[in-house]
Amino acid sequence: MNLRFTEEQEMVRKMVRDFAETEIAPFVEKMEEGEFPREILRKMADLGLMGMTIPEEYGGAGMDFPSYIIAINELSRVSATVGVILSVHTSVGTNPILYFGTEEQKQKYVTKLASGEYLGAFCLTEPSAGSDAGSLKTRAVKQGDHYVLNGAKVFITNGGEADTYIVFASTNPELGTKGVSAFIVDKDTPGFVIGKDEHKMGLHGSKTVQLTFEDAKVPVANLLGAEGEGFKIAMANLDVGRIGIAAQSLGIAEAAVQAATAYAKERVQFGKPIAAQQGVSFKLADMATAVEGARLLTYRAANLRALGKPCGKEASMAKLFASQTAMNVAIEAVQVFGGYGYTKDYPVERYFRDAKVCEIYEGTSEIQRLVIGKHLMN
Ligand code: CAA
Repeated sequence: MNLRFTEEQEMVRKMVRDFAETEIAPFVEKMEEGEFPREILRKMADLGLMGMTIPEEYGGAGMDFPSYIIAINELSRVSATVGVILSVHTSVGTNPILYFGTEEQKQKYVTKLASGEYLGAFCLTEPSAGSDAGSLKTRAVKQGDHYVLNGAKVFITNGGEADTYIVFASTNPELGTKGVSAFIVDKDTPGFVIGKDEHKMGLHGSKTVQLTFEDAKVPVANLLGAEGEGFKIAMANLDVGRIGIAAQSLGIAEAAVQAATAYAKERVQFGKPIAAQQGVSFKLADMATAVEGARLLTYRAANLRALGKPCGKEASMAKLFASQTAMNVAIEAVQVFGGYGYTKDYPVERYFRDAKVCEIYEGTSEIQRLVIGKHLMN
């Protein structure tokens, strides 16, 4: 088993790390105040980061999947906000069109998403359909050369900032999940209303909005895949998306361990650095060990994906373990910093707030266990 990254992958890591430290780090405070990192995304587009795994023929960089995971990992060490924007844009905002779209849809949308001219979003969750995604109520009724959409979506990452939205709606409610269809919805579609921007615990620079469809007319040409294929499109892309959230979690966890270790080496109590005291050194050891486990699971799932092998179970395991690690490690990092960790003078309270949602979005930890359990029974 080869656990080494290739030379190209190491170059991607170095390039993204340098970019994150020089370009993103100075902007973290602005994002904490709620500013969307539009200019950073433009620079990421210049570096080819907005379409890393998209084939060159559709305007992407044609890189392998682990390189993309490395990029999310590195970006999230500095800013989990930027990490999630890229993950959602790519894994669930662009890939559904790449894998299920017609040639015309790919030429029209994927090329612009890959170049960064467009930003993508994914609209599955509804006020009463979260974990039970198949119970969604948004309706799409075919009328001539259009579908008319009515309904509401919530917690839409990149909402309002994105140009294209992959929207899941039922074309036949009697068929349950088999009646769900997917649509590509342009931001300026009449009847498509961008609603409230949620005031969140963390990820302050990332937009999370409510959306409503009020007789929104979506051209038949924007149906993604066949009618009734939508739920499978959502699930298949979430499988891959979850590796991105694992990488985001890993980035937060790495940053928390790094900050806690550096502080523990400096902070002297009872005549010696707290890192030299077993209560703290054991804590740091457990944190570093958990991070290593999260790293192995995340890159193992990414490698399976790169090899074209089934990776749903491994993606859920990586997401489950890495997000829990991010949360646990961030809690412990605050503890190592003591009172200082509870202030905004140090970044660990931000890691703590940002980590929590990794256990919630793209499927809660409970849903990951459910998915893993189903795989074990097959
Ligand atoms: N790939 C392809 N097809 C799949 C699949 C997968 N991974 N998982 C299920 N399917 C198919 C099944 O095969 C089945 O089809 P058949 O009957 O033809 O076999 C169909 O989909 C229905 O499957 P289930 O009966 O298993 O569906 P379910 O209603 O029991 O739900 C679930 C399964 C796993 C719980 C699913 O509802 C789920 O993943 N829920 C969590 C939703 C979620 O992750 N939401 C995240 C929102 S997006 C987000 O957070 C992005 C963001 O902004 C950050």
